[in-house]
Amino acid sequence: MDAIECILTRRSIRKFMDIPVEFEKIGNILDAGIHAPSAGNLQDVKFVLVTDENVRESLAKACVEQYWISRAPVIIVVCTQPEKTKRFYGEKGESFSVQNGAAAVQNMLIAAHAQGLASCWVGAFEAEHVRRTLKIPVDAIIVAILPFGYADEKVPIPIRMPMENVVFLGAWGNRIKDIASYMEWYGEHVLRAVQAGKKAIKKFAEKMQK
Ligand SMILES: Cc1cc2nc3c(=O)[nH]c(=O)nc-3n(C[C@H](O)[C@H](O)[C@H](O)COP(=O)(O)O)c2cc1C
Repeated sequence: MDAIECILTRRSIRKFMDIPVEFEKIGNILDAGIHAPSAGNLQDVKFVLVTDENVRESLAKACVEQYWISRAPVIIVVCTQPEKTKRFYGEKGESFSVQNGAAAVQNMLIAAHAQGLASCWVGAFEAEHVRRTLKIPVDAIIVAILPFGYADEKVPIPIRMPMENVVFLGAWGNRIKDIASYMEWYGEHVLRAVQAGKKAIKKFAEKMQK
């Protein structure tokens, strides 16, 4: 799977199989987080790796009782420590730090999906509860909680905004009716056609087996 396919087929998964995850894959996910871009390459992102069942349950409770999170065999809590970034960038520092964390998170979600694992970006949590549970210092920002495991559900692609609605040409507000054909970009149409083709082949193969 290439990068574009990986980005387009990643889904938020909230149901995991009751099987462990290879630590080699978790290593690759952490490495992907470390390789994310960061303002001034200050690399202020930190990762708390959690496997203990009781701690996972406590985290799930802290995530406003999203208990499905505890059923992922591995949870990684992504934090940033903005002290250095604030020193370099003044009042922009804290925002940069959160953006550094977000870049790491997205890299990690993509790295998980590329290896056949599933996850979900969890941002709804009581920060103080998470802080207490994992002994995260007060100067650190908790950016996201990422449960990792093998998916035990298939979810449809949540509806995305059409390009025409969100892309302006040259200046804010300049919309183009069919921006895809303006750019000679048919990615979405091709992907849909490939998916329809795959479905048809699968159906045909099943019919032949009967
Ligand atoms: C900042 C942020 C916070 C989120 N928090 C939660 C959350 O607390 N619980 C949850 O189930 N999903 C959460 N999500 C996942 C979104 O619901 C999901 O990305 C969105 O519905 C699109 O689905 P997709 O990821 O499958 O494309 C969050 C996503 C982001 C970016």
